[in-house]
Amino acid sequence: MLKVGVVGCTGYSGQELVDILLDHPGVEITCLTARFDKPEIYSDVYPRFKGRTSLVCESLNVDAVCEKTDLIFTALPHTISMDVVPRFIEKGKKVIDLSADYRLSSKEYTNAYRKEHSDVENIDKAVYGLPEMNRDKIKKAFLVANPGCYPTSVILGLLPIIKEVKQAGLNIVVDSKSGASGAGRKADISLSFSEINENFKCYKPNEHQHIPEMESILSRVVKGEIQVNFIPHLLPVTRGILSSIYIEDKGVGAEAALRKKYVDYFSGEPFIRISEQNYMPGIRDVAGTNYCDIGIKIVRGMIIIVSVIDNLLKGASGQAVQNMNIMFGLDETAGLK
Ligand SMILES: NC(=O)c1ccc[n+]([C@@H]2O[C@H](COP(=O)([O-])OP(=O)(O)OC[C@H]3O[C@@H](n4cnc5c(N)ncnc54)[C@H](OP(=O)(O)O)[C@@H]3O)[C@@H](O)[C@H]2O)c1
Repeated sequence: MLKVGVVGCTGYSGQELVDILLDHPGVEITCLTARFDKPEIYSDVYPRFKGRTSLVCESLNVDAVCEKTDLIFTALPHTISMDVVPRFIEKGKKVIDLSADYRLSSKEYTNAYRKEHSDVENIDKAVYGLPEMNRDKIKKAFLVANPGCYPTSVILGLLPIIKEVKQAGLNIVVDSKSGASGAGRKADISLSFSEINENFKCYKPNEHQHIPEMESILSRVVKGEIQVNFIPHLLPVTRGILSSIYIEDKGVGAEAALRKKYVDYFSGEPFIRISEQNYMPGIRDVAGTNYCDIGIKIVRGMIIIVSVIDNLLKGASGQAVQNMNIMFGLDETAGLK
């Protein structure tokens, strides 16, 4: 059995990791950490785990975690991860980091965040953990940068056609909607129930922190510069992301041919489903699963791609477990649905 630890086990994605890993046939969770004054029984902190685990969670002690694990998931806020991850790597441990700290190159990171990364040694060696793009690299990686939730939905929605879009110089507009758990469980008035419930609003239009990640990864694919106009919205639901991608159709092709292109591109991918003609997928189709569903339409000269995921699964912990399965030669779908 593979021995794994979850650092940041109290967060939304940390809890999802524990949930998946407890039922994973090839894995044993050997340690859980977050910020605790004294050790706590995990199922006392989160009663939904009662009867499933008697694990005790503690505050982070790097040596203790390394002694007990083969692989560590770090589910920490960005800028915190980059202080913790190198200490595990130094001790020869493999890491899957869920934060944004290792998704860009060091140069891109400095440009995007206007400050130096504190772990330049590892940032440029990390593998971007999108299996549909980097499976072979993930197999050999010691550090996987698990993709962001919005970028997962957008990049998967664009991968099959991004080269043609670049070649034709077409403008990409992405209108994304996310459930509130995408922001984590931190206290924030704008995330409180009364602010979100029965409301729907746009935030950070074309200024969201995930834009550099989408542009960087897509630019690597086309070996040229890609710009994404990204307009995020906050939905009054807990989980799920729906990204509507709009591209003016100047010769990319007819709808049936475009759908076939997507089907062929993702052929054999266990977690990508291309929707039938005239069906646009919804959040409920993927909530609670590791699937990304993609709907395709060309109408009145506009290509419309709709890509939906569960932000906490394909957008975070499910994808992290998919990456673990690939890194350790396990069945890629093990533990996932
Ligand atoms: N939520 C999503 O949909 C999603 C999707 C993709 C990626 N991510 C990324 O995954 C990471 C975790 O996200 P999340 O949504 O699970 O966040 P979260 O709910 O806010 O949880 C954060 C975790 O980090 C711990 N933590 C917070 N501040 C810390 C500090 N200063 N030092 C050490 N530990 C600290 C928290 O522990 P305490 O109990 O001690 O506060 C908690 O366990 C983030 O980088 C996020 O951007 C999230």
